[in-house]
Amino acid sequence: MNITNKPELGQYMTFEFSKEKPIHGWFWYKEGFAPEIVEWAIKNENNPKTVLDPFCGVGTTLLSAKNLGLESVGVDASTLAVFVSKTKTDDYDQSDLETVRAFLEKQLPPPPNIRWEFELFDVRAAFPKRNYNEILALRNAIEQEDDRVRNILLVGLLSILPQSSLVLKDGGVLKIIKDKKALPAREIFKRRVKKMLKDLELQKKGHGPRVFLGDARALNMEDESIDLVVTSPPYLNNIDYSKIYGLELSLLSMSKAEASEVRMRAIRSFIGKQMEVQDMPPEVGEIGERIPIIGTYFKDMELAIKEMFRTLREGGAAHVVVSNSVIHETHILVDEVFAQMAERIGFADVEMVVGAERVADVKPQKVKTRESIVIMRK
Ligand SMILES: C[S@@+](CC[C@H](N)C(=O)[O-])C[C@H]1O[C@@H](n2cnc3c(N)ncnc32)[C@H](O)[C@@H]1O
Repeated sequence: MNITNKPELGQYMTFEFSKEKPIHGWFWYKEGFAPEIVEWAIKNENNPKTVLDPFCGVGTTLLSAKNLGLESVGVDASTLAVFVSKTKTDDYDQSDLETVRAFLEKQLPPPPNIRWEFELFDVRAAFPKRNYNEILALRNAIEQEDDRVRNILLVGLLSILPQSSLVLKDGGVLKIIKDKKALPAREIFKRRVKKMLKDLELQKKGHGPRVFLGDARALNMEDESIDLVVTSPPYLNNIDYSKIYGLELSLLSMSKAEASEVRMRAIRSFIGKQMEVQDMPPEVGEIGERIPIIGTYFKDMELAIKEMFRTLREGGAAHVVVSNSVIHETHILVDEVFAQMAERIGFADVEMVVGAERVADVKPQKVKTRESIVIMRK
């Protein structure tokens, strides 16, 4: 297998560069990548016309494809990710934008007498009282608007929860920090939505993607219908998305049960989702038996890579962005296992492009781990 280094790509394997970009930055998704990764893949493959992201997150691949005039399809296990992706890639007309602008100046009726339920803690403890009431009042008023207007406003509201709450996302857990400075909800909502409106004045229209809730391990899609996959699956031993974005999920769905439904569909990449694996991929070896989360993760990813193979046309390619992991002081070369599985599954050519290297403490020694793009050509 050919391995090359492209350190200039490393900076784009995080969400940092998406944050400042029009529309891309609407919802902070720490685990996302930047549009440059998608643009690089499109430029390096054979004139693709249809692009798939089976772990689409907040739609970086889909919005990049749309901006370049390509058709795309996005799938994610999280209702929040699907909602944000759809809203970021929809087309809006001037009258939608005017209605959104008018909403910002509206007098809001008092907050409705409903509970905002969340599985991890009492949401009222997560906000200053005034912000809690303002958010519920906004949520209620937004729900009265027509679809496209509602969606823009709701993404705006969901995106301000980190700054308007007392919650801190700390690694894989949410913590309430009593003396955290929470910004005034209504005010930052207004500012945020105004910025979104500015982005939309320049939006490229047409070529909206198809985005749906689903499971990358079993895609509801036709064989050989895609030219290019650009994606990044959850990383091994990474966060539980249904928890870390649980507050946003609960405000979107107004249901406590939503998070556990998202968790059911998710790749088994985090502790708490491990179980016994039948038919362990042979590339994983005994470590998959010894540390169950490793076995379940690669089993799920084997299914996802098989789906990429099935949906790609002959000559098509998958660019899979992945990071190696350290678990129980063992360094796991996730990219190599992906590459070996891809060869067994039938990809004709597999190459690896290393974008970033980090030093991890794997006692007693330090090892170099890396973030790479595994490129699988059919
Ligand atoms: C690393 S993030 C992708 C971020 C994306 N590249 C972006 O820029 O927004 C991985 C995504 O996989 C989703 N996911 C987890 N399990 C899944 C499954 N079985 N099928 C589809 N999506 C899944 C998570 O909800 C999360 O949004």
